[in-house]
Order: sequence, then C-alpha cells, then structure tokens
Amino acid sequence: MASFNKVALVTGITGQDGSYLAEFLLAKGYVVHGLVRRSSSFNTSRIDHLNEFVTDGKLVLHHSDLLDNFSLSRILSETQPDEIYNLAAQSHVRVSFELPMATSETTGLGCLAVLEAVRLFSPNSRIYQASSSEMFGSTPPPQSEETPFHPRSPYGVSKVFAYWMTRNYRESYGLHASNGILFNHESPRRSPTFVTRKLTRAAARIASGLESSVSLGNLSSSRDWGYAPEYILGMWLMLQQDQPDDIVLGTGVATTVERWGDLTFEKAGIDFHEYFVHNEKYDRPSEVDALLADTHKAKTVLKWRASTTAEQLIELMLAHDFKLISNPNAIDGVNSELWSELLT
Ligand code: NAP
Ligand code: GDD
Repeated sequence: MASFNKVALVTGITGQDGSYLAEFLLAKGYVVHGLVRRSSSFNTSRIDHLNEFVTDGKLVLHHSDLLDNFSLSRILSETQPDEIYNLAAQSHVRVSFELPMATSETTGLGCLAVLEAVRLFSPNSRIYQASSSEMFGSTPPPQSEETPFHPRSPYGVSKVFAYWMTRNYRESYGLHASNGILFNHESPRRSPTFVTRKLTRAAARIASGLESSVSLGNLSSSRDWGYAPEYILGMWLMLQQDQPDDIVLGTGVATTVERWGDLTFEKAGIDFHEYFVHNEKYDRPSEVDALLADTHKAKTVLKWRASTTAEQLIELMLAHDFKLISNPNAIDGVNSELWSELLT
C-alpha cells in the first residue's frame, strides 16, 4: 500500500525512532523532511545509510531546533507537510533531574512550539506527539488511556504538559493532533545510556574480554519493553485515522531490569550477578516502579499489536552488539520479513 507524494516532517529524525520512521515513510513513498539540530560532532549516524534518498531529493534534512520558533515556522510554511511526527525531546529520564529546565523547554515547550507553528502556518497537517508511559509514573499497572497521570521526573512532567497541549490544540483549534502513549521500545539503535542497550552491550563486551563489569542503579523496577520498528507502524496508523485520538502502544508484558540482565548475560554465556556493580549515580531521586500497557484500544482501533517478545528483543540486540565488536560500522538492518510485514 504505497502513499505516493505524501509529505512528512519528522522532528528528532536522528534519534532511534526518527531513523526507523524515516525508513518506513521513505519505503511508503513519502517525501520526508527531517529536522537535525546543530552539533559540534556528527549526529546523523542513525540515518547516514539513507543518503541515497537525500541525493534523490526524497529525504530533505534541515538544520533546526525545537527551541528556534522562527526556523520551525519557516520550515512548516515551506514544506506544508501532510503529517508531522514530533519525536524530538531530551528523552533521558535520569538526566532530566540534572537538566530540569532544559528538559522542560525541549520536551514540554518544544511540543507547544510545534503545535503553535502548525496552527499558524500549516493547519491542515496531521500531528503525532510522542507521549510516554513515563507520564503514568507511580499510578499502578496496568496503564491505559484512562489511567490518571502521576509523573515522577521532570521528563515525565514535561511529557504531561505536551500531552495536554496536544489535546488542547485539538479541542480548541480542531487540529488533527494525536498522542501516542508509548511504553518503552528498544532496538540495536537504542542509545547505550538506556538500560536495555547498556546491558546487551556490556554482556557482549564482557563475554569478549573487553570489559570486566557493568555499573547500574535500581534493578527492581519493571518495564513493558517492545521492539521499536513495530511501534513506528502504530505511530503511522494513528495519523491515518479519520479522527485524532490518544492511544497506548506496548506489549502487555513486563520484565524487571534484573530479569533483563539475567537473560541477557545468560544468552551471552556469562552470569549477570558476577559482573554487576551497583553505582548510586544511576539511581533516581524518584523512581517509576512498574509500567505495563493495557493495549486493548490499539488492538481494536488500530488493529495494532506488538509481536516481538522481550527474549527475542534481547537476542537481536545482543547479536548486533557482538557484531559491533568485530565490525564497529555494522549497520543494524531491520529483518526484511518484519519490514515487509509492517509495510503491507
Ligand atoms: P532519542 O533517541 O533520544 O531521540 C531524540 C531526538 O530528539 C534526537 O534526534 C535528538 O537529536 C532530538 N532532539 C533533542 N533535543 C532537540 C532539540 N532541542 N531540537 C531538535 N531536536 C532535538 O529518543 P527516541 O527513543 O527515538 O524517542 C523518540 C521520542 O519518543 C522522544 O520524544 C521520546 O521522549 C519519546 N518516547 C520514547 C520512548 C522509547 O522507549 N524510546 C517511549 C515513549 C516515548 P540529537 O540526535 O542531536 O540528540
Ligand atoms: N538508564 C539507566 N541506566 N537505567 C537504569 C540503570 C542504568 O544504569 N540502572 C537501572 N536502571 C533502571 C532505571 O532506574 C529505570 O527504572 C529502568 O532501568 C529503565 O531506565 P531507562 O532505560 O533509562 O528507561 P526509562 O523507563 O527511564 O525511560 C525510557 O522509557 C520511557 C517510556 O516509559 C525512555 O525511553 C523515555 O524517553 C521513555 O519515555
């Protein structure tokens, strides 16, 4: 099902989700505009394999920043996208305690900047806002679209602000603006500053004799971990609905950090507890203990469900981290069977 000539704008295109989303939309025939923020070093490694589309004019990269309203407005006026995916954020929960102001600006006000620019300059664009299960915070699982928010970090509070702004612009101005409330989703493209990738990377390196321990914080929290490329389909489906909405995406299965560590190290042929060292610098001033998605709405409205299990996810991430040891430039291609399943 190709959607020729559609135009999409992706903020956060250099991130994990942005890179998979760009691949997905390009494969569907979209022209994709991506916002890249200026950095003193290269920050496009996750999308460099898409350079052929840049040459063809199908992927257009713009320097911008969610904190620069003028550039956002100009790009929106010029591109008039059919669909906008606002994925840009300071997305690290623990870092948000160290950078509460900067996180609130990018993750909270940044969303408002996008909404306001859309209202003024491209009101027919459909908008996807990357909301997060972190908004549920200390409200006990399972969490659904009806579950009250009780965020436990500056990041979570900022996402709640962005969530309500998205709803407010929908109700006030009739924008087709949807919140995807996504539970944790991981991949070989995940930054190793998040615990799943930190663990698969550490297990591969310890098993290969390159490192001797892994320092972590709290092991008892649990998360609903899924495979990122599958969540891209859910994001896209939200913008194909006639009516904008707020929808949870997750697997419906939770795993503790400790269990993820045990499984990962076991699959690498070593014992997690022999190499784990607690370091309080990774603890958080307030923790989200348990996240578990109730995905009833996604199944009924979008006909979407996650299919990769946590164990399969560990295997594919670990395999890539082993590959990186012999080939640091290895590209983590998405399994072509899964891609074609997602694209049809
Ligand atoms: P990520 O890998 O951390 O990517 C974040 C992206 O935002 C990067 O492209 C980053 O650019 C960009 N960015 C940061 N500050 C910016 C600014 N001021 N202006 C413009 N761009 C900026 O995050 P992700 O895992 O792909 O997640 C995508 C979105 O979904 C985020 O909003 C995240 O909060 C949300 N979310 C993620 C999950 C998850 O489990 N992955 C779950 C729920 C919600 P650089 O590459 O230059 O840093
Ligand atoms: N990052 C990290 N590093 N987390 C650790 C560590 C460590 O060394 N040790 C233990 N943890 C615990 C954290 O305290 C948390 O309970 C759990 O591992 C998961 O942490 P992260 O992988 O950092 O993910 P997160 O759940 O805080 O946030 C991710 O998911 C959210 C959706 O629920 C991010 O992707 C957010 O952007 C996203 O919104």
